[in-house]
Amino acid sequence: MARFPKALPTLILTAAVLTVRAPAAELTNPADEARINALVAQMTVEEKVGQLNQLASDTLTGPGRIVSDGEALIKKGSVGSLFNAVKATETNAFQKEAVEDSRLHIPILFGYDVIHGFTTLFPIPLGLSSSWDPSLVEQTSRFAAEEASAQGVRWTFSPMVDIARDPRWGRITEGAGEDPYLGSAFARAYVRGYQGSRLDDPSSIVACAKHFVGYGAVEGGREYNSTEISERTLRDVYLPPFQAAVDEGAGTLMAAFNAVNGVPSSANYFTLTTVLRDEWNFQGLVGSDWTAIREIVLHGIADDENVAARKAFMAGVDMDMQSTVYLAQLPSLVSSGRVPMARLDEAVRRVLRVKFALGLFEHPYVPVPAGLSPAEKARGLELARHAAEESFILLENRPVKGSPLLPLRPSAGMRVALIGPLADDGVDMLGSWTGIADARSVVTLKTSLSKRAELGEFALTVAGGTDVGGMKDDGFARAAEVARQSDVVILALGESGHSSGEASARAHIELPGNQERLLEKIVATGTPVVLVVFSGRPLSIPWASRHVPAILQAWFPGLQAGPALARVLFGEASPSGRLTVSVPRSVGEIPVYYNHLNTGRPRTDAQVPDTNPTDSYYVTGYIDEKDGPLYPFGYGLGYTSFKYSDVAVDTSWLSAAALNRDNTHLNVSATVQNTGSREGTDVAQLYIRLRGTSVARPIRELKGFKRLHLGPGESRKVEFTLGRDELSFWNIDMKHVAEPGTLFVWVASDCTQGSPARVEIRD
Ligand code: NOJ
Repeated sequence: MARFPKALPTLILTAAVLTVRAPAAELTNPADEARINALVAQMTVEEKVGQLNQLASDTLTGPGRIVSDGEALIKKGSVGSLFNAVKATETNAFQKEAVEDSRLHIPILFGYDVIHGFTTLFPIPLGLSSSWDPSLVEQTSRFAAEEASAQGVRWTFSPMVDIARDPRWGRITEGAGEDPYLGSAFARAYVRGYQGSRLDDPSSIVACAKHFVGYGAVEGGREYNSTEISERTLRDVYLPPFQAAVDEGAGTLMAAFNAVNGVPSSANYFTLTTVLRDEWNFQGLVGSDWTAIREIVLHGIADDENVAARKAFMAGVDMDMQSTVYLAQLPSLVSSGRVPMARLDEAVRRVLRVKFALGLFEHPYVPVPAGLSPAEKARGLELARHAAEESFILLENRPVKGSPLLPLRPSAGMRVALIGPLADDGVDMLGSWTGIADARSVVTLKTSLSKRAELGEFALTVAGGTDVGGMKDDGFARAAEVARQSDVVILALGESGHSSGEASARAHIELPGNQERLLEKIVATGTPVVLVVFSGRPLSIPWASRHVPAILQAWFPGLQAGPALARVLFGEASPSGRLTVSVPRSVGEIPVYYNHLNTGRPRTDAQVPDTNPTDSYYVTGYIDEKDGPLYPFGYGLGYTSFKYSDVAVDTSWLSAAALNRDNTHLNVSATVQNTGSREGTDVAQLYIRLRGTSVARPIRELKGFKRLHLGPGESRKVEFTLGRDELSFWNIDMKHVAEPGTLFVWVASDCTQGSPARVEIRD
């Protein structure tokens, strides 16, 4: 049964309330715990280790097979989890072997990378985050859960909650961007969507917050690379979205590939046990990433797989994905006493806990024929179109002949040119991780525009121009000719869907191949250009930003790319996406995240009014690149404009002691007015800065946001509260506390706007 609303809500005010922490959903209940203990008491060491073994179902037999007889292994009770089986007939068949033929009849937990949809593909996660609308993500992930669970998949390896400050890293596409506060709001939303209100609802799937931890900080953005992260930065920036997922009740976590400060994440006792278990009291299951346990040898902290298995297991990784090292090594490690039986039992209990919580013992099979009804599928497509519309970010919209180029106002005589290699590519619209979507069911921009042209809305001519990554230019001349003969050009450029994602780091993040040359050629024709950028990461497009009147960042929008784009380009829907990651001017200025520390020699310190920026030559920055990003965090235009005024705080001072006792807070308000002549949505963003504290704090930090839909001329008061959660940080003594100092508060439309209210925080 689909659980997202039957009719999509018209855009309404959506608030991310992070100050009130819901109690962690209980993964454990006493009746299940008794059953778990009874089962563990009957298990042999081999059966226990079997529960900790996870294999890809497509590597059980045939080429690439990693075990000699996968099916025999299942019947022996030696496969706790299988992943990549995606059809009900397949999952049921494997399940039958486990449930009917194994001694203890323990069901298999089936997993899959349901990242931004299963059959119905929504925009990539970075695109979804651009909506600044966690309730939207709750709906998309709920829908994905319903589709996946119908086929027997009850575990998704999602959400990826890695904070990503480097767009060279390909996996930036899978997350919610660079900010821990926003990332935490989305982490919670994914967990709520996948897990629903009850895990044993057959349409719920268990979430997996990954990759624990620091994967987004890989040096140079190079995939699988090492990270150096101070404990303070780890706790302030990289851990909060994981903690949010755990607080929300996420049943599982995945350990990351990367090493943190010299210790591989899959063998990191500090993160996996000290933080996760001892501090956060996580009761669920921790799995490894694909062959990551074997890779501990290559990282260099184990001479062989025996040591790797012991280090990973004792650090806190319960389940081994695909390296079969636990299967081979744990029995002898236990019999020799190098791994205590108690630790083995604890890991087995965690696996069984998730299986019991999902109701797998009661309902191991799924009904066949499986799948959602046509009406539910139609609702999924509607949601996909709506989500895509919310994910687009309007980066430029300059006037052409007196009015902003977008939205286009079609007329029968209007000649529209559609040019570029991404205008008609279904595969690329899905981005990385495509679930089991059929690329043929993607509606491309060309299909949508052609349909409208057939209805007589305008005249359309299409030209490819070039391919996505190549240097071919034999289509340039025709593309320029088509542009010359048109009133407006829609130019669909960007990356291929697989230029981002795992193992897809890029050293160059400009438009690939010779697309920049095509762009320059088309602009040179003088016909106004709307550039639609498809990408899985922010691309560096400084020339375009200066010379192209309208730029729409479309990410990879999923199945409904074409209809969503057409509706936004022609003004039936307004773009309201905002950047969740800063867009660099050039690769050389990466990292260029907004919430950085000040230096002693900033060129300007426009963020806080009473400081004296130096006018010396000796300032922070580059001598050959402008300061700051091309487009800042939080930025995005719409088809109307908004004005912020009356930013007010309800007190001039707060007590740090009272904040730490959690019995005080600050109310912040502002007035937002739609100053244009169209209705539209803006995201009011609350930022803070703390000064005078024991350690330096970022020049701005997001601590609240609200989406507002306002009619022309309409004003609304937005209100926020700031309390202990928002004002605490890891201080000089590594305590998470509020400290005396000066607090600056902004309510603005992006991280560079507004002037702050000031509040004193006393002892
Ligand atoms: C490796 C990826 O890092 C991880 O995110 C994914 O879930 C697994 N492979 C399984 O496909």
